[in-house]
Amino acid sequence: MATGLKVVRTLPSLRRALEPYREAGERIALVPTMGALHRGHMALVREAQRRSKRVVVSIFVNPAQFAPHEDFVSYPRSFQADIKALRAAKVDIVWAPPVEVMYPDGFATRIALEGPAKAGLEDNFRPHFFGGVATVVVKLFTQVLPDIALFGQKDYQQLRVVTQLAKDLDLPVKVIGAPTVREPDGLALSSRNVYLSAAERAVAPMLHRVLEGCAARIKSGEKIERVLNVARIEIDVAGFALEYLEARHALTLAPVTSPSDGPVRLLVAAKLGKTRLIDNVAV
Ligand code: PAJ
Repeated sequence: MATGLKVVRTLPSLRRALEPYREAGERIALVPTMGALHRGHMALVREAQRRSKRVVVSIFVNPAQFAPHEDFVSYPRSFQADIKALRAAKVDIVWAPPVEVMYPDGFATRIALEGPAKAGLEDNFRPHFFGGVATVVVKLFTQVLPDIALFGQKDYQQLRVVTQLAKDLDLPVKVIGAPTVREPDGLALSSRNVYLSAAERAVAPMLHRVLEGCAARIKSGEKIERVLNVARIEIDVAGFALEYLEARHALTLAPVTSPSDGPVRLLVAAKLGKTRLIDNVAV
């Protein structure tokens, strides 16, 4: 029976909407988002539909993962357009709880992380971030109880953190990573790209070009540290304020000095004006 998209905002209505799917034994996928949906999010939705009969997309701008000086208040919000896109994509449920439903008065729990969340990278620049992500993701998982959940490789450390979290807490959900969707010039799609001025937008794809160049040189046998040192200068000269450019073990995120240390992932974060960009590629 085609019943169309249900937008739910309370836990009882979420449970009511999910009940028939569970009773029918239908596989349920969750795609967690903060809204301001773009083609990257929609690729996760399509992958979820490929793997599951039912798809729930959550839209929740999670205050717990923003520091007071960050962009929680100005974070792009486009709820009506998001709903329209999700309805057209034939998503089953949008789970869009208000803050007071997710974090009622007196809420006093936060997940404490080790391992990939403490491997530096994002954690050095956003120390509050993964604790906030983990707390909301565990809540989303227990609220929706999906069979699978899709996350983008675009936020590579987040994908590793959530994978570890689900494993360590025996959460009965399979975490699946999907490839980064890019603009034709290589810039990774991000809700925050709307902050870029026209001049910054022209420079932004350079970050991905440098990553791909590094990966090719490392593959051809050049020493990782040398390749990264040259690239760090290139990024600075192009006008970015580089936060990190590092080579890490693709699963543990531990530092690596040579491809013989295991599968290598290159990860970068840099500010262009006020906009913070992150990206990563496999070697
Ligand atoms: P948000 O930034 O909205 O991203 C939602 C999901 O979309 C994440 O899994 C992210 O990795 C993925 N995504 C973003 N840009 C992408 C791109 N260009 N290609 C492929 N996937 C992309 O990440 C969050 O929200 C939050 O931290 C969340 C997990 C929802 C917890 O609040």
